[in-house]
Amino acid sequence: MFNKKNGTVTEKDILAALSNVQEPELHDDLVSLNMVKDIHINGGQVGFTIVLTTPACPLRGQMERESTDAVMALPGVEQVAVKFDANVRGDNRIAGRLNIPVRNIVAVASGKGGVGKSTVSVNLAVALAQQGARTGILDADIYGPNIPTMMGLTRDSLPAPRDGKLVPPLAYGVEVMSMGFLIPQGEAVIWRGPMLHGAIRQLFTDVAWGELDYLIVDMPPGTGDATLTLAQSVPVTGGIIVSTPQNVALEDAEKGLVAFRKLQVPILGIIENMAGDVFGEGGGERAAQRLHVPFLGRVYLDGEIRRGGDAGQPIVAIDPDNPQSLAFHELAQAVAARVSVMSFQSAPELKII
Ligand SMILES: Nc1ncnc2c1ncn2[C@@H]1O[C@H](COP(=O)(O)OP(=O)(O)O)[C@@H](O)[C@H]1O
Ligand SMILES: [Mg+2]
Repeated sequence: MFNKKNGTVTEKDILAALSNVQEPELHDDLVSLNMVKDIHINGGQVGFTIVLTTPACPLRGQMERESTDAVMALPGVEQVAVKFDANVRGDNRIAGRLNIPVRNIVAVASGKGGVGKSTVSVNLAVALAQQGARTGILDADIYGPNIPTMMGLTRDSLPAPRDGKLVPPLAYGVEVMSMGFLIPQGEAVIWRGPMLHGAIRQLFTDVAWGELDYLIVDMPPGTGDATLTLAQSVPVTGGIIVSTPQNVALEDAEKGLVAFRKLQVPILGIIENMAGDVFGEGGGERAAQRLHVPFLGRVYLDGEIRRGGDAGQPIVAIDPDNPQSLAFHELAQAVAARVSVMSFQSAPELKII
């Protein structure tokens, strides 16, 4: 089968060809990055699998084309079949400190409330799950936990605890945990220092999370105590800042950014939400430029997004063809790609304060 005399291509030839194909974001070739596996050769028919660093990879199509072309160029190859698989790299600081099977913790924050932080967290999480990533969402907004409502869950959705741990209910393919499951509806809880610290940490560690590629954390509003507590007690892989399109967005985004930087949380980028006729457009993007952080994308103000949130039916789940659902999918890919890229850079040691 590997007989050169018959003009049959070998595994070595294929690897040599694929070593000329770049992973466009990691800036290295597929072979050096160890992304090629399961090479099959059957006469002129060749197949192999590319193991991506995230199932939500925005450049899958490009890699498929380029690797097909590279292998087709080998003498004797008539047909190439590329398969994809994914293995999300883990942030090893998590395993070291929290003992939960979560590979990456992505925090979603904003300089002020009401900008759509929870809405973005929910739709991002559902979009990642739809793209094949194992995803959870943790509602760390302990003052106004509304992730359960937005995911169509109630207190009754919480399964019985298992081995002394809370079991996160599943909605739209996403594991969900929130203080909203634990405190009686409408009851205001006043959180004080140590209790706050304990409560937030428990939402991470006393939960029977499944093996997750991404745990999206809807952060407490603003940059106050709860935010600081969270970032100090949990190794956050990367932070996203949600901002509005108005001109004041720069100030708000900057507040979020400064808080993340102080806590040495790497910044994934800024998302502009609620763009359109009412609030204008471009404030989030300009803020990203001015603050020298990536602009991850824009979502427009759309009544269907709000209705979906109120009804517990995220727009990406119930109206996947809506342009805003597509925007959330692109955001999900941008976030996943940034996390992958970061996982190949050496993560800074988390400062424990
Ligand atoms: N892009 C959008 N289009 C329309 N309504 C939105 C959009 N983003 C958020 N909303 C609505 O705005 C309100 C505030 O959003 P929310 O996600 O709760 O903000 P935050 O978590 O930052 O306080 C909610 O009613 C939500 O449905
Ligand atoms: Mg919120």
